[in-house]
Amino acid sequence: MKGLTSIRALGKTDMMALVGSALDYADTPAPEESLRGRAVAMLFFERSTRTRLSFELASMRLGAHVLGLDPATASTGKGESLRDTVTTVVAIGADILVVRHSEGGIPDRVAEWTGVPVVNAGDGTREHPTQALVDLVTLYEHFGAVEGLSIGIVGDILHSRVVGSLLHALPTLGAHLTLVGPPELLPPPIEGITMTTDLEEQIEKLDVAYMLRVQTERGAVVDDSYRERYRLDRRLSARMAPHAVVMHPGPLNRGIEIADEVADGPRSLILRQVSNGVPTRMAVLSALEGAPT
Ligand code: CP
Repeated sequence: MKGLTSIRALGKTDMMALVGSALDYADTPAPEESLRGRAVAMLFFERSTRTRLSFELASMRLGAHVLGLDPATASTGKGESLRDTVTTVVAIGADILVVRHSEGGIPDRVAEWTGVPVVNAGDGTREHPTQALVDLVTLYEHFGAVEGLSIGIVGDILHSRVVGSLLHALPTLGAHLTLVGPPELLPPPIEGITMTTDLEEQIEKLDVAYMLRVQTERGAVVDDSYRERYRLDRRLSARMAPHAVVMHPGPLNRGIEIADEVADGPRSLILRQVSNGVPTRMAVLSALEGAPT
């Protein structure tokens, strides 16, 4: 593939190939260094812990050099345009750009400006394709399949770029998706997707409760009733099916959407999601067109 700015460019076969490759990388202690000598630039114009560090480690494990741009100290602060910044990074020697930005669509524009493979590490409220792939890998690792799973995504659906990617990825692989949240944090109706405001009524039906952070930095406002209705705590978790699991893309706002005892409890796959970030991003980087295999 030329780049990965939207998961909507991937069909079932493409996603399954990336999931298989990620699971292979997870199993292989010393993978081949298919990006040896290449340079991967990390252009994170928004904060990140999981995505940035796992892209960096994935790049290093594939033998690439990592170029890290810190927007707080870069020349963008002297008035340099985004276009000039990214073309400068490519002129310095970057072969692949990993881009996170607060504005939706920026990774596509960076790809047009530079002509090099761009991987979207999260753009505004639009998409976070590699997080969706991480989640698919985690579901396959745990359940052995995604088809037929009943997955409830709970919380601030409206502002979630992860949902923007999962809305394509999960139904494409045959999961039954329900969006759960307060009316003001649900999107307009989407054909084929069930939406509800009633987590109490849904919780027993789910194989996976996928919890989301309330994104106050993007304008989400909730009051105390949010915790009462949408926080996954010990009481609600006890009503889940015995085999059901809890996921969250992170970062967590403990005590708001998820209680400590659930985040750290036996149902939680949250740290598996984090750990799967490195092999998943290795799979994506090594699948880019022009990357030696
Ligand atoms: N899930 C996710 O994108 O986490 P970070 O913001 O820490 O990268």
